[in-house]
Amino acid sequence: MKEIELKSVGKLYKPDITALEDVSLGIARGEFVFITGRSGSGKSTLLKLLSGQILASFGEVRVQDKNLAELSRRELQQLQLQFGIMQPGYNLSESKTVRQNIEQAVRSTSLVNLLAGKRADQALEMVGIPNVGKRYPDELSGGETVRALLARALAVNPRYLVLDDPTAMLNSSDSLDMMRLLKEVNSRGVTVIVSSHDKELVNIVKRRVITLSAGVKVSDENNATYNTMANDVFEERTIRERRMQRKLEKK
Ligand SMILES: Nc1ncnc2c1ncn2[C@@H]1O[C@H](COP(=O)(O)OP(=O)(O)OP(=O)(O)O)[C@@H](O)[C@H]1O
Ligand SMILES: [Mg+2]
Repeated sequence: MKEIELKSVGKLYKPDITALEDVSLGIARGEFVFITGRSGSGKSTLLKLLSGQILASFGEVRVQDKNLAELSRRELQQLQLQFGIMQPGYNLSESKTVRQNIEQAVRSTSLVNLLAGKRADQALEMVGIPNVGKRYPDELSGGETVRALLARALAVNPRYLVLDDPTAMLNSSDSLDMMRLLKEVNSRGVTVIVSSHDKELVNIVKRRVITLSAGVKVSDENNATYNTMANDVFEERTIRERRMQRKLEKK
């Protein structure tokens, strides 16, 4: 069974931006999926849709066979507790220490609060910064900040780890470290969904790669490397051109 399913999903932003068009895909438990594509191709939009942060304009997004558009606010929040998220804009609170930030995330997901501190420490250890818990976010380097954000996403013990361009601020050796860690997390059964335009990383992981171009899914391959064809050949095609093409094909 595909735990996450998009069925002909479209997303419009006001006033007239088509961020995604007719995207269908399924993600099974335990998969490691890269979402690639040029800037503006719809990667962040896709991640927000499948984690219920925004709703589709067309089609259906289903998680564990539930249509997200039909859930109550509470049901949606409940489902979202299973997601560990790292994305631009979802920053650490500057007024709390790193450890407090992570503890707060853990507390928000469970009624058992006693273990929050321990979970925070474990997560910081796991991402290789065991000694920064007492520091405030503005006392971290760029690389440490990225690790702390990853620690927060992992500490909630997520079923789905959703990372939007997590290596954007990392140098290449730290990026490789992160991929190793993600593979390890994935091997323990966590579904990992990562957006990236980093060709090298995608190629090292060699798992499923979905490529978007102008809001359209142009390739979806298993055990794959970065799809240069899909990224470059479709680059200049606008959604309108593709729509025209489909109309012609139907005739
Ligand atoms: N909240 C919003 N309101 C209006 N337009 C938006 C909004 N968010 C995204 N867009 C537009 O939707 C399209 C897809 O954006 P999205 O952020 O999903 O792309 P992306 O592939 O993540 O790009 P990047 O690699 O630069 O992060 C772009 O044209 C973008 O300008
Ligand atoms: Mg983005």
